[in-house]
Amino acid sequence: MGRINYGEYEHIVFFTGAGMSAESGVPTYRGRDGIWNQYRWEEYACQNAFDADPEKVLKFHELRRGTVLTCTPYPVHETIAALEKKGQVITVVTQNIDGMHQRAGSMQVIELHGSLWRVRCPRHGISEDMNSTYSRYRCDKCGEWLRPDIIWFGDSLNQRVTAEAAVIRRCDLFVSIGTSGVVYPAARFPRIARENNARCIEINPEANEMSFLYDETIREKAGTALPELFGEE
Ligand code: OAD
Repeated sequence: MGRINYGEYEHIVFFTGAGMSAESGVPTYRGRDGIWNQYRWEEYACQNAFDADPEKVLKFHELRRGTVLTCTPYPVHETIAALEKKGQVITVVTQNIDGMHQRAGSMQVIELHGSLWRVRCPRHGISEDMNSTYSRYRCDKCGEWLRPDIIWFGDSLNQRVTAEAAVIRRCDLFVSIGTSGVVYPAARFPRIARENNARCIEINPEANEMSFLYDETIREKAGTALPELFGEE
């Protein structure tokens, strides 16, 4: 597949998953070295786990924060950010919680699954917390445990975020990068884009159950495919 004449498109959505950050060194979730092969999500990534042992769950997320901070956005994140800087209307709809798109300079980023870099007090709401270790485990106003502001297994998506993600209905080019397409409701997004007549492209070295939904599939790593499609000539 040749370069994409992106100027032809009014609104491009990049729909990203863990594979987007894999070449930066952030582990994916599934597959041989995936996070959920090393850690049982039931012990680290659901409300029950947090209620049972908040400190254990917070320490797990600190480990993840530490890993992400040693990684830098790969040129592939920068390719997307550069398109937006050129004036192209771009929305990144990401399942990733690593903040890499923002670090690379993307402005319109919808974080479907929350962020590693925020915590939530049940009484005092959400606050940013950007270092490798959490600055505190409990709210300094009320003493409640601060929960990572992440959509864990069994949680519903935030309603505001769901409303923002409706942007998928309006895009005319939908580019999915590095997702296994198994986690709902995000797994439905390619179908929504297709039903609304967007050109749908998948970039993923491996096929999955959702691959049939795409007009074109590119079986390469994001770091190879994306600059070929969208990079400087
Ligand atoms: P997965 O780990 O399920 O899938 C990663 C995908 O990236 C796989 O399909 C790989 O083939 C692909 N991949 C690996 N390296 C790649 C590369 N260099 N370039 C392109 N693709 C590559 O990750 P997600 O689909 O993002 O939820 O997982 C969805 C959700 O499940 C995550 O958001 C997370 C997890 O539980 C939360 O954190 C709430």
